Amino acid sequence: MKGGSVGIFDSCVGGLSVWKELIKLLPAEKFLYFSDSAFCPYGPKGQEEITKRAFKITDFFLGRGVKLIVVACNTATAASIEALREKYDIPFIGMEPAVKPAALHSRSGVIGVLATQGTFRGKLYNRTLERFASDIKVIERVGEGLVEMVESGERNSSHTEKLLRRYIEPMVAEKADHIVLGCTHYPFLEDLIKKIAGPEVSIVNPAPAVALHTQHILSERGLLRDSDEQTESNIVNSTIFYSSGDYSVLKGLASSIIEGIPDENFNNQTI
Ligand code: DGL
Repeated sequence: MKGGSVGIFDSCVGGLSVWKELIKLLPAEKFLYFSDSAFCPYGPKGQEEITKRAFKITDFFLGRGVKLIVVACNTATAASIEALREKYDIPFIGMEPAVKPAALHSRSGVIGVLATQGTFRGKLYNRTLERFASDIKVIERVGEGLVEMVESGERNSSHTEKLLRRYIEPMVAEKADHIVLGCTHYPFLEDLIKKIAGPEVSIVNPAPAVALHTQHILSERGLLRDSDEQTESNIVNSTIFYSSGDYSVLKGLASSIIEGIPDENFNNQTI
């Protein structure tokens, strides 16, 4: 099964922040990326509805020879990772807000977490808080409206900055020295977040750690492609993209990360 692809999915384009790290680390692999744009955003949706979509996307991937799935969405991980692992035999890698490293490295004893409503409600997040942040002050903010800003390409607009200030400034005022990006869309707003938070605050993006974990699991299960299959030009053509809605935003953002992805790698796919 070494020859299979790695499936990646998100409610829309946010998972590209994880894809970006995966293609860098695993240049010999083939990827399928599914953006569930017709059902975006997942944040305010219930667990049952998100799990149904996760099953549909997984079935679609399995029909295309996927060997491992990265759930590149904190909200979908919170809602459905346990059900996915129970129902299917292949390995699933989930996202989890990086509360642990932030809490371990905090000098002020205060950290901020920006995530969706669904992620904050999840068992995984609350278990992590109990285990690693019981003696730390955690300021939580639902990043309402931010997914929509990324989707509409407003990554640097004054409207987005105004919205972000509402979430980030209270964290800084309470002396948070780490801000955890608990939604895969938010790394696309990292420059603005850094500007608002200032140089003393570390912004924690879990995507590189998730990519490393994926590499580890592939290797442990004997699923990693041989590195002699890797070439620079592979990367441009390594991913087939699907969107359950309009794929123009997906195409624009993916092509700004890797130039030269062929047009035919982008597809509309109703499931
Ligand atoms: N990118 C997602 C996450 O990591 C989903 C955001 C949404 O669809 O609300 O949570």
